Amino acid sequence: MPFYHKLGNIPAKKHTIFKSEQGDFYYEELFGTVGFDGMSSLLYHTQRPTQVKEILKSYDVLPKIAVEKNMKSLSLKGFNITPTDDFLESRKTVLANSDCYIVLAAPKKSLRDYFYKNTDSDEVIFVHKGTGKLRTHLGNIDFKYGDYLVIPRGIIYQIDFDSEDNRLFIVESKSPVYTPKRYRNWFGQLLEHAPYCERDIHGPSELETHNEQGDFIIKVKKQNTIHEYVYAAHPFSVVGWDGYNFPYKFSIHDFEPITGRIHQPPPVHQTFETKAFVICSFVPRLYDYHPQAIPAPYHHSNIDSDEVLYYVDGDFMSRKNVEKGQITLHPAGIPHGPHPGTMEKSIGKKETLELAVMVDTFKPLMVTDEALKIADEDYYQSWLDSHH
Ligand SMILES: [Fe+2]
Repeated sequence: MPFYHKLGNIPAKKHTIFKSEQGDFYYEELFGTVGFDGMSSLLYHTQRPTQVKEILKSYDVLPKIAVEKNMKSLSLKGFNITPTDDFLESRKTVLANSDCYIVLAAPKKSLRDYFYKNTDSDEVIFVHKGTGKLRTHLGNIDFKYGDYLVIPRGIIYQIDFDSEDNRLFIVESKSPVYTPKRYRNWFGQLLEHAPYCERDIHGPSELETHNEQGDFIIKVKKQNTIHEYVYAAHPFSVVGWDGYNFPYKFSIHDFEPITGRIHQPPPVHQTFETKAFVICSFVPRLYDYHPQAIPAPYHHSNIDSDEVLYYVDGDFMSRKNVEKGQITLHPAGIPHGPHPGTMEKSIGKKETLELAVMVDTFKPLMVTDEALKIADEDYYQSWLDSHH
């Protein structure tokens, strides 16, 4: 996150002696990204974070690709993903390319038996259903419906869920996830025309510091493989840290929509950016107010990007037969637009209550076996007058 945050106790000067009241050393760790060029934080541990005891098994979690060169518009019933006890096993990658994975998950149990660390990707977890606490080695974040949890690569975490009914829409990104550059000034501050500001971004507020020794399993994801590391020291051993690299939450309900007299283009909904895709939030808003305005979107040819929409809540204006948790994929190169009749129906409407998350990728997405299990394969014909 391009602003400074700190939690717990840190020494006045970096790289200097820092001890507990009992006189024990705290161990400093630089936690950075993009070599030494990206955002970083300085952490102080009760125990050295390097104490690998053993490496148990390693196993492949590469998504199984069913359609490599997809040219079909596709609709997926996201809520048909089977709820699964274990957090990692519950994660089903439905769409994938070399830049990002689109993942659906319905975990039933809290992640408590082991720790998880994704070193391949930043993770953006959109909470569609469920409340709980994201617990990380840089501190904890409470979450609820509508929160985006942005977890930079390398963050060690666990998750507590308050109930078994949880639905997550997750994007794993090979390149770092940032706020859109056009909304930031040269210092990184969000500008007045941004649809949200620093007050809407919440870093960790509660630091859990452990000093236990024993056997602590961290499942480390790297190169689509999970490696089970056993550490001799508790991974949450930080007494304090400061810097720019940390997990945070942003609620979709804090996204202030940008509206106009005539239809506004999709970039007004942009929430996050990466080198390879964007994430947008479609939120309840007043419609275009030109007397002749057509609120429904025009047909568009997304020549250069695959477009993924995840429907969260409300009535989606340009689609028929949409349900919560549904994903539509509109592949690059094929024009798409409002379903028959929805353009006409939108005229004169004053507002929309739609809530959706969009991911536009610059490279085409491949469709996985998991996606085909929940796919409506006739969706590509749904713009015909005769389609039901
Ligand atoms: Fe579209």
